[in-house]
Amino acid sequence: MKPIRKAVFPVAGLGTRFLPATKAIPKEMLTIVDKPLIQYAVEEALEAGIEQIIFVTGRGKSALEDHFDVSYELEATMKARGKSLALIEGIRQKPGSPVYVRQQEPLGLGHAVWCAREIVGDEPFAVFLPDELMVGSPGFMKQMVDAYHKVGGNVIGALEVADSETDKYGIISPGARDGRLTEVTALVEKPARGSAPSNLMIPGRYILQPEVMRILETQEKGAGGEIQLTDAMAQLIGNQPFHGFTFDGQRYDCGDKAGFVQANVALAVARADIGPAVRSFIATL
Ligand code: G1P
Repeated sequence: MKPIRKAVFPVAGLGTRFLPATKAIPKEMLTIVDKPLIQYAVEEALEAGIEQIIFVTGRGKSALEDHFDVSYELEATMKARGKSLALIEGIRQKPGSPVYVRQQEPLGLGHAVWCAREIVGDEPFAVFLPDELMVGSPGFMKQMVDAYHKVGGNVIGALEVADSETDKYGIISPGARDGRLTEVTALVEKPARGSAPSNLMIPGRYILQPEVMRILETQEKGAGGEIQLTDAMAQLIGNQPFHGFTFDGQRYDCGDKAGFVQANVALAVARADIGPAVRSFIATL
């Protein structure tokens, strides 16, 4: 079984749901307490053993590149002032990583992943949607990689949501269950209300075999007129093992304003430094 060494982060989206905050900064740079969303996802990837970070980016996203690069000015100034560099040194990636490719047109998640095909090559890879913040120990992807080493093939996140939420996500038709693993028998992207095959949604974490790139190459538009990753994955079912994995941890949908604020509150309250102050403030509200 080939190891999962590469991870694709589709980050070309315009983030219109968070305007005006995202007019001049990428939505992935919005912070949960003091760390941008993208960094949580990258740290989750590195913890899972990912060696190569691949950002599928677009115009106006250069802050992401700067964030993972060396900042000479900042480092020199901090050093001169005797300040610790611990918080920014950890962000730097190995020379030559991350890799940036551009998605020139917003044609959908499937198209964004396909834009990374040359870098991914012929090996299984992970996909992270950084809007989805996953808090757990170990992290979601580490748990998924461990499960992948048992069953191989394709392993995607599988989390339960309320009936009223199923039309917002990719939904899994579940087969046999074995602990946290569920066989996937079919997939549908954003099913109409009342027609979802289950409450198991795909929460933006994927381990996929490279054959999905071949399918994406000829992919027709699906839900919302976009090239959907879910539709391409559905075509692998039956030809390759395909499982859903249920995370032991907490998910925050930071693509949604309420979810974003909830994540900030939850992570702030859990911190040793600011937790007590935030907690007693919340009690006064
Ligand atoms: C995307 C995927 C969907 C998945 C969701 C998770 O949808 O297409 O299958 O469940 O992310 O957040 P989007 O949120 O981009 O519409």
